[in-house]
Amino acid sequence: MRLALLGCGTVGAEVVRLLHEQAADLTARVGAPIEIAGIAVRRMGRDRGPLPVDPTLFTTDALGLVKRDDVDVVVEVVGGIEPARTWLVEALRSGKSAVTANKALLAEDGGSLHDAAAEGQADLYYEAAVAGAIPLLRPLRESLHGDRITRVTGIVNGTTNFILSAMDATGAGFTEALEEATELGYAEADPTADVEGFDAAAKAAILASLAFHSRVTAADVHREGITGVTAADVASAKAMGCTIKLLCIASRGPDSTGADSVSVRVHPAMIPRTHPLASVGDAFNAVFVEAEAAGQLMFYGRGAGGSPTASAVLGDIVAVARNRLAGVRAPSESVYADLPVRPMGEAVTRYHISLDVADRAGVLATVAGVFAKRDVSIATVRQSGRADDASLVVVTHGAPEAALAATVEELRGLDIVRSIASVLRVEGGA
Ligand SMILES: NC(=O)c1ccc[n+]([C@@H]2O[C@H](COP(=O)([O-])OP(=O)(O)OC[C@H]3O[C@@H](n4cnc5c(N)ncnc54)[C@H](OP(=O)(O)O)[C@@H]3O)[C@@H](O)[C@H]2O)c1
Repeated sequence: MRLALLGCGTVGAEVVRLLHEQAADLTARVGAPIEIAGIAVRRMGRDRGPLPVDPTLFTTDALGLVKRDDVDVVVEVVGGIEPARTWLVEALRSGKSAVTANKALLAEDGGSLHDAAAEGQADLYYEAAVAGAIPLLRPLRESLHGDRITRVTGIVNGTTNFILSAMDATGAGFTEALEEATELGYAEADPTADVEGFDAAAKAAILASLAFHSRVTAADVHREGITGVTAADVASAKAMGCTIKLLCIASRGPDSTGADSVSVRVHPAMIPRTHPLASVGDAFNAVFVEAEAAGQLMFYGRGAGGSPTASAVLGDIVAVARNRLAGVRAPSESVYADLPVRPMGEAVTRYHISLDVADRAGVLATVAGVFAKRDVSIATVRQSGRADDASLVVVTHGAPEAALAATVEELRGLDIVRSIASVLRVEGGA
């Protein structure tokens, strides 16, 4: 079984090491030795440390390597949309199996890859693209295929989880916690993709596509990052027995006309400390899956890093290699449900709103009236302080996002509301 390895960076180098270290076991598990036919990189002269591989295998001609007749499986760990898409489409169309960790490409244009796989009758595996080492996509695409998944809620970005966990533990602000994450190597020099939620949104699209048998792209995902989360928000959450997490939430349910649809969103949210996701700290990932027959399932582990990610890539390599030797194909893309994505305004969520208000009679009634006008039911109200310290904390029951957002806007315009200190969504039954 001959591999073309595209990329030899953080993940690729670990793939090379694991292939070498576990060669005998892998041969036994697959039924044939797995050999590297070539390794495509961008810079031939780069110092890659002591890699257990013949240096003559390196090339900068990735497409040429993909097209070689002696290549059975293409492993793409470069990243980005192009040229990765061209390489993978070429491989799959010509009947070569492909393994990729490229969440950005899968979320933007996974359809092209699946179409090419169908055309070439080839396998496309991408376990490492979401939640690193955690076996998650295979359970969604195989083990749970007899069930109906209703909701997937995940912490799928380690950098933001590290930052929010640090803010929760120390009371630090966002900037301070980001600096710590950067110093410890949990955040990249340009952290935009992580802190603005782009990385989590890509993973949310992949999870939603698999869970709901529909093509969902990153553009379908409502995305908010964590740059606006303040130390005051974290303190408000604590006061309610909650913690703040950047969640990806994909759910299936009726839209405003009653038709079956999916909702996919990424945003910070308060969750009760008793929720299984609340105890997921540092840079760990976890995904909570709810299915009609299976009930609640939780997947937990390391979501990134060379070695954990390479573990998932190796698992995929073994799977596609076995399939090729057996002359079979993995189950192809399942998109028969073809559900539409409903707009964020129709997503049902809950708000925690902290208001600085005037200290006068009737304030509570006026504020309650604004909620009632849009049919937003209030779960709890806490009024505290006097004079300049007077504040109200309102937590709603579930309501459409559009009604909640409009309520906040109207509250902002009231003369009795001096300022809105914080608005956070609440998830997980707090
Ligand atoms: N790192 C993680 O923890 C992690 C976790 C999950 C998924 N992933 C995904 O895994 C993929 C790889 O990530 P990584 O962290 O390993 O990236 P990386 O360390 O930046 O490595 C990228 C590799 O691709 C090579 N490359 C870049 N452009 C190329 C080109 N035009 N032609 C040939 N080779 C090219 C680079 O060559 P040079 O070495 O010569 O520069 C390098 O070897 C990405 O899709 C990422 O999203 C990573």
